[in-house]
Amino acid sequence: MAADGARRVALLFLLLCGAAARHASAGDGALLNGNFEYPPNKSQMNGTTVTGEHAIPYWRITGLVEYIDSGKSLGPGDMVLPVPEGVHALRLGNGASVRQQLSVTRGAYYSVTFSASRTCAQAEWLNLSVVPIGGDEAATPASDIPIQTVYSASGWDSYAWAFRAERGIVTFIIHHGDEGVDDPACGPIVDAVAIKKLRAPGDTGGGGGNLLRNGDFEEGPYIIPGTACGVLVPPMDEDDVSPLPGWMVMSYSKVAKYVDAAHYAVPGGARAVELVVGSEVALVQEVDTVPGAACRMEFSVGDARDGCVACAPELPPMRVVAAATGAQGTVTVEYPSRGTGGHMRGKLEFTAQGNRTRVVLYSSGYHTMADTTGTLCGPVVDDVSLVCACKPPPTRRLLRR
Ligand SMILES: *[C@@H]1O[C@H](CO)[C@@H](O)[C@H](O)[C@H]1NC(C)=O
Ligand SMILES: *[C@@H]1O[C@H](CO)[C@@H](O)[C@H](O)[C@H]1NC(C)=O
Ligand SMILES: *[C@@H]1O[C@H](CO)[C@@H](O)[C@H](O)[C@H]1NC(C)=O
Ligand SMILES: *[C@@H]1O[C@H](CO)[C@@H](O)[C@H](O)[C@H]1NC(C)=O
Repeated sequence: MAADGARRVALLFLLLCGAAARHASAGDGALLNGNFEYPPNKSQMNGTTVTGEHAIPYWRITGLVEYIDSGKSLGPGDMVLPVPEGVHALRLGNGASVRQQLSVTRGAYYSVTFSASRTCAQAEWLNLSVVPIGGDEAATPASDIPIQTVYSASGWDSYAWAFRAERGIVTFIIHHGDEGVDDPACGPIVDAVAIKKLRAPGDTGGGGGNLLRNGDFEEGPYIIPGTACGVLVPPMDEDDVSPLPGWMVMSYSKVAKYVDAAHYAVPGGARAVELVVGSEVALVQEVDTVPGAACRMEFSVGDARDGCVACAPELPPMRVVAAATGAQGTVTVEYPSRGTGGHMRGKLEFTAQGNRTRVVLYSSGYHTMADTTGTLCGPVVDDVSLVCACKPPPTRRLLRR
């Protein structure tokens, strides 16, 4: 068949360019044609619409998918949008999807990072899933990722998602749901899809008696080298695999921003989390504790040196609230941020009440960059520890007669 022939020629082209695998073998970095720079054959396009299911090398598409050229207007009245990686990207219309088979290590954890941009002024969601080979796609749970708030001045945001591989070969799917969307041509544009193998949450212990996993946030999703905007970690349910091992991002539709030392001031190590949407998002972790143990939670609060100014009296300082089940109240750390970096430590002492203790961190205020873009920003948190010591049993008084 002509389409098959075209596909073979496209594949040969890719093979000659050194991209040798039939399906992507998941090492850290971009998926095969993850930036969509290998174009579909013109014979499988009608205008910008991709008509062939297998037209885009290494990907399979369903539904209305458009192949976007950087700098070209998307339609009357639309903005011209430069794409984050290379010069091409895909727009997923209502109910459209794009998928790729991945070779992974069975039982291992992976995070996927992708860039997305909203194109219509309406709430958009992407549904991400992995279907194990031979699995039933309809029965595979998917995760909703809200593409609603724009967090960067460019209009493009990088998002992270994670999964545990149930099989050695899985199909990774980005699906644009068609719920509540009026215009079928509306839909997010996606680009720069990359993957990273994560350490299992249990292998990210802090040492030194720290009960928290990944308290220093050193383990986390792939940050595309050169991107200065970090990676957004969307909200998740308790049973979801977190791209930030150990931690859960709790929110209805807002995110936490994962940042790197290459582009931001981080209090310790190479990574930290910037809390960019006030109290709408909390970082949560639950650990085993011994009831009655004396616990001390410590954490760093600082500013990311990203021009996020929160300096009294004109602008209230950044405030990070720490809470724990069993604690009498919360502790708030105030950080008067000049947007130039720096950090301080906060401490919350309490007695563990149950055999599980949940620690929570959130920012209680909203901040925007000092530039005129109105970009959301906030305090960075890092190096969170929870150390609990069992109190010696109360000394028994000798009963007198
Ligand atoms: C594109 O498709 C046409 C028709 O199917 C075919 O003749 C041509 O070789 C294809 N080109 C490439 C680069 O695959
Ligand atoms: C291309 O799309 C237009 C509408 O946008 C449609 O009228 C036309 O039939 C399509 N051509 C083919 C070959 O599918
Ligand atoms: C995402 O997929 C789930 C099924 O796994 C479905 O219940 C949900 O409605 C989907 N969300 C969207 C926005 O399509
Ligand atoms: C933890 O406490 C609950 C009741 O508060 C109890 O049902 C459960 O068995 C306890 N778990 C462990 C591991 O001690």
